[in-house]
Amino acid sequence: MKQKKLWGGRFSTSTNDLMEAYSASIGFDWRLYKQDIAGSIAHARMLCSQKVLTEDEFNKIENGLIEIREDIEQGRFEWDESYEDIHMNIEANLTKKIGEAGKKLHTGRSRNDQIATDIRLYLRDEIDSLLRLISGVQRALVELAAREADTIMPGYTHMQSAQPVTFGHHLLAWNEMLDRDYDRIFECRKRVNCSPLGSAALAGTSYEINRKMTADELGFEEITRNSLDAVSDRDFAIEFTAHGSLLMVHLSRMSEEMVLWTSDGFDFVDLGDDFCTGSSIMPQKKNPDVAELTRGKCGRVTGNLMALLVLMKGQPLAYNRDNQEDKEPLFDTIDTLSICLQVFEAMIPGIVAKRDKMREAASKGYSTATDLADYLVRKSIPFRDAHEIVGKVVGHAVAQNLQLENIPLTKLREFSDAIEEDVYDVLTLEGSVNARDHLGGTAPGQVKLAAAAASKILAARMIKAS
Ligand code: ARG
Repeated sequence: MKQKKLWGGRFSTSTNDLMEAYSASIGFDWRLYKQDIAGSIAHARMLCSQKVLTEDEFNKIENGLIEIREDIEQGRFEWDESYEDIHMNIEANLTKKIGEAGKKLHTGRSRNDQIATDIRLYLRDEIDSLLRLISGVQRALVELAAREADTIMPGYTHMQSAQPVTFGHHLLAWNEMLDRDYDRIFECRKRVNCSPLGSAALAGTSYEINRKMTADELGFEEITRNSLDAVSDRDFAIEFTAHGSLLMVHLSRMSEEMVLWTSDGFDFVDLGDDFCTGSSIMPQKKNPDVAELTRGKCGRVTGNLMALLVLMKGQPLAYNRDNQEDKEPLFDTIDTLSICLQVFEAMIPGIVAKRDKMREAASKGYSTATDLADYLVRKSIPFRDAHEIVGKVVGHAVAQNLQLENIPLTKLREFSDAIEEDVYDVLTLEGSVNARDHLGGTAPGQVKLAAAAASKILAARMIKAS
């Protein structure tokens, strides 16, 4: 049965059925119930301490709301689309439960500051879970990097074999991306954690409210400074989604590399069977679906960012109903980030490096050519000349189908008589990676130090991996 609208006083006909379905948000904003109830209890307690509500009224309201929360959690609560949204479903139910006192809950507030409060509280808690998950993925990466500190693989530029690197170093590059994502999201948390409650519809309220009291009870660190801005601002959500999009871009880049590395052409790693799928027709297939799905899901999160940006673009101050459209993109962003991070954290420890294959690939492609040029520079040849000489050596090696370290010394000396027996030390893969022994370099010793430093950063975080 269609319920009487809580705002129905000035209306003479009931809402069109289509309009009702069109405007209802309860289908998705029900998930704000905990925050909505916490916000209402804080608001009512404040009204009571300001003598706007009596003790008795407040107690009834608080107990009623606690009961409603239990009803929702036990699946006993009856959601009703004709009450539009989470706020009115709860308020109408409260009044049914406790009578007259329920009708006083909405004193001195509006759904406009109520919804702004709910989403901020919700996003704040979700940010904390996501930060924990990011740290979890980082921990898995750092552990794998420490194990693979000595493993040599080709490093690429332009997707062409460039110089040998260590697999641990590559994994720590991924960790750096996530480290910045963590910092960005952590930093935006403080702009999320700001209380709009008390801004009411747009102009504030004529009751003598205590905004600090509600903010403290709800764990807000700050209080918004302008009521018009507070009810209309959603840039905290846009900012979060922008950081989330970048995080997804990073997960997508990692995914792309996993797809490449598990392909026949590379064959560098094995992903656990438990995170791959087979083909319904080709019995030999083992597909890296987690990586592919994550790469694909990057699209929906960046799409959510576009949706939120455009949602805000044409809005005059203050609250407009457009803002109801913020929830689905935001929830979808949170859900997508959460599941991707969980799967990554679980999958990474099962990554097995095929060390021989990586090494074999690194030894092809003349990846120590830069080392030979650097060697000549150490023998007093200007770098540009050294580059030219090594270019010729590589040309010879290509023509003869030889690796650099297999060219005999007498032949090498035809290109430059500065080359001596010790050249073979720099032409080996180990020689090449070990030589890059400085902060941020790929030498195994540096990778071990970097992994230890990264573990320390993770251990010192305020919001740790669970
Ligand atoms: N469901 C609305 C939203 O998500 C709540 C605020 C509605 N306010 C209003 N004046 N109709 O934004």
